[in-house]
Amino acid sequence: MTTLFINIKLLVNVRNDSKLLRGSDLQNLPCIENAFLLIEDHVIADFGFMHQIPPSYLKIPATFEVTGKMILPSWCDSHTHLVFAGSREKEFIDKIKGLTYAEIAAKGGGILNSAKKLNVTSEEDLFIQSYKRLQEVIKLGTGAIEIKSGYGLSVEGELKMLRVIQRLKSTTRIPIKSTFLGAHAIPSEFLENREEYIQLIIEEMLPRIGQEKLADYIDVFCEKGFFSTEDTQKLCKAGEQYGLKPKIHANQLSASGAVQVGVKMNAVSVDHLEVMDEEATKALSNASTIGTLLPTAAFFLRMPYQPARELINSGCAIALASDFNPGSSPSGNMNFVVALSCIQMRMLPEEAINAATINGAFAMEVQNIAGSITKGKLANLILTQEIPSLDYIPYSFGHHLIEKVMLAGDWVN
Ligand code: NIG
Ligand code: FE
Repeated sequence: MTTLFINIKLLVNVRNDSKLLRGSDLQNLPCIENAFLLIEDHVIADFGFMHQIPPSYLKIPATFEVTGKMILPSWCDSHTHLVFAGSREKEFIDKIKGLTYAEIAAKGGGILNSAKKLNVTSEEDLFIQSYKRLQEVIKLGTGAIEIKSGYGLSVEGELKMLRVIQRLKSTTRIPIKSTFLGAHAIPSEFLENREEYIQLIIEEMLPRIGQEKLADYIDVFCEKGFFSTEDTQKLCKAGEQYGLKPKIHANQLSASGAVQVGVKMNAVSVDHLEVMDEEATKALSNASTIGTLLPTAAFFLRMPYQPARELINSGCAIALASDFNPGSSPSGNMNFVVALSCIQMRMLPEEAINAATINGAFAMEVQNIAGSITKGKLANLILTQEIPSLDYIPYSFGHHLIEKVMLAGDWVN
């Protein structure tokens, strides 16, 4: 199947090769004005200036004339908890009335509340709920995604979540990475004996996950009241034995030392970063570990936003992701993530788009197939409506500017 786009107003994030962007490089978003784009056999085959289009291309039957519209690589959402059961809008009301995230968690709400729901939901029902959410975010322009477990908190519950993620991988066209987050919270029955739960993760969950090849990464919620930096190192080392690289929930509620541990453990990414101190920023600058910012979680929990400018100025590699989950970010809309990053974190549109595409791809190691308009990469694309400029995308936050999306060269209905 061959598809040709002609008269593209702006072809965004055009790159010959894929490089992780850090510091001031994030501002460099290469684009082609008045472009063509050729797709063949699910991948990007060619692109260039309209005035240089090879005449033979103009005979291709599936040619789309898209004057006034832009084409972007799909969003790469490298941090989600999209597999969950039900919702938690009651806690939303508690938050409106003044309770904090930590207070809600301490009274049995939060992650434990979702775990309770998940453990009484059948695998089939969980799949149906999750599949629906995945289709929704695909329509919003997400073209590669990472999904975590972490609402099971029991051997069977965690395996159920990971099997659902595996089924999503095999039934949809979008590249999916799977992360084991057994260390998301201490389940109530282990509150007096947290070491025993950590042993359960290491001795029972990890071997089964390794055996059944159910995950690509291991994650730990490294935070006061959840898992310590020592627990985090221990769990990451155990995960490594099964080939799982770390991606850590770090510095969401406090400067806990989680970022430093993540960098030391060679984590692919350390995610959240609402509460950074000098040591954490220093550890992350020039590190190969990516700092993934989740501004919609800060927005929803009324937390301070991540210090994006400071991190970029310190030479950090920054990605943006949605954190889609029922407790701190009940939205997987990457368009809003990009807009919020510009509005509240003062990222420039170019920086935000790079962080949500190519760097997001790096943050889940799909940079060879996604994240930019590069020959040989999957044709996972966003076609915008007619818009005046690239800056208009984050500027007109909350509007639906996407006309259509494509996954592997096929239109998504
Ligand atoms: O990334 N902070 C830890 N985990 C999730 C929230 C999970 C929940 O509240 O259900 C997050 O924000
Ligand atoms: Fe998260």
